[in-house]
Amino acid sequence: MNKQNKLTQEQFEKFRDLVKEKLGIHLSESKKEMVQSKALRLMREAQISCFDEYYKLICNAKNSYWASFVDHITIHKTNFFREDNHFNFIRDKIHSIMDANPRIVRNREIRVWSSACSTGDEAYTIAMVLKEYVPPDINIKILATDVSSLVIQEAQQAEYVLDREDLINPYFLQKYFKKIGNIYKIKDEIKNLVTFRTFNLMDSFPFKNNFDIIFCRNVMIYFNPEVQEKLIKKFYHILTPGGLLFIGHSESLTQRQYKFKYLQPTIYINTG
Ligand SMILES: C[S@@+](CC[C@H](N)C(=O)[O-])C[C@H]1O[C@@H](n2cnc3c(N)ncnc32)[C@H](O)[C@@H]1O
Repeated sequence: MNKQNKLTQEQFEKFRDLVKEKLGIHLSESKKEMVQSKALRLMREAQISCFDEYYKLICNAKNSYWASFVDHITIHKTNFFREDNHFNFIRDKIHSIMDANPRIVRNREIRVWSSACSTGDEAYTIAMVLKEYVPPDINIKILATDVSSLVIQEAQQAEYVLDREDLINPYFLQKYFKKIGNIYKIKDEIKNLVTFRTFNLMDSFPFKNNFDIIFCRNVMIYFNPEVQEKLIKKFYHILTPGGLLFIGHSESLTQRQYKFKYLQPTIYINTG
C-alpha cells in the first residue's frame, strides 16, 4: 500500500469525533494539520503507512497506540505558580477557607484535587503553599491526575528545568527544591504530599471521599459548553459544602454556575 501523507477531510473528521467522544476535546478545523503531523509521526514510529489503519488501532482505548496518541494530542503547557492569584488567595484566606468548610478542622485533613495536572507543577505548587500556610496539625492530601500517562510519569520524577515563566520566589525555591546541576528536584517533604494517577475527566468519578479544593485549570477551554457543564456538575457533587473550585483565567462558569457561588474571578465556592 502507498504511504499516505495527507489526512483527507473525512479521515480528519473521524479522528476529531474520536477525540471528542473519548477526551471531550473539541478539535476545530484549524487543528487538522496538527492532527496530521502528530499522527504521521506516531505512524512512522509504529511502521504504519495509512491513516485508516492507524485510526483502527487507536480506537481501542485500552492499547498503547491510544495512550501515546493521547500523550501527543493533548497540550501540556504548565508552570509553577501559574496564575498565582489562586495561591495568593489560599495564603491570604486560609482561615476563612477553614471556617467556611468545618470538615477540614474536624478531620484534621485538607483534600485537594489537581484534576488536569500535566507535569505536576500545579500540584507541587499547591503542596508548597499548603505546607506553608495550613496549620501544621492538618494533614495535606493532594491527588493529581491527568489523562496523559506520559506527563504523569514526568510528574512522578519531580525533576524540573525551570524557565522564566516559573514564578517561584527564592524562599520557596530554597526551601522545597534541591538543585542538582541545572535540575531542580522537589524535596520529599513536598513530593510525599501528592499522589499521581492517570484519569480521564470524561469518566465517572470513582472517589470515596469528597475534596475540599479542586483545581481544574486550563483544560475546560478545550471542551465544548455541554462537556463543561457536565464536568462542573460532577465537580459540584464531589466538593464538600464550603469547598472551592479554581478554574483557569480564560475560563468562566458564567451561565453554568450550577450551585457554585462566585467569589473572585476564577474562584468559586460550593454553597452546599
Ligand atoms: C494546558 S494543561 C494545564 C495544566 C495545569 N492545570 C495548568 O493550568 O497549568 C491541560 C492538561 O489537561 C489534560 N487533559 C486534557 N483532556 C483531559 C481529560 N479529558 N481528562 C484529564 N485531563 C485532560 C492534558 O493532558 C494536559 O496535561
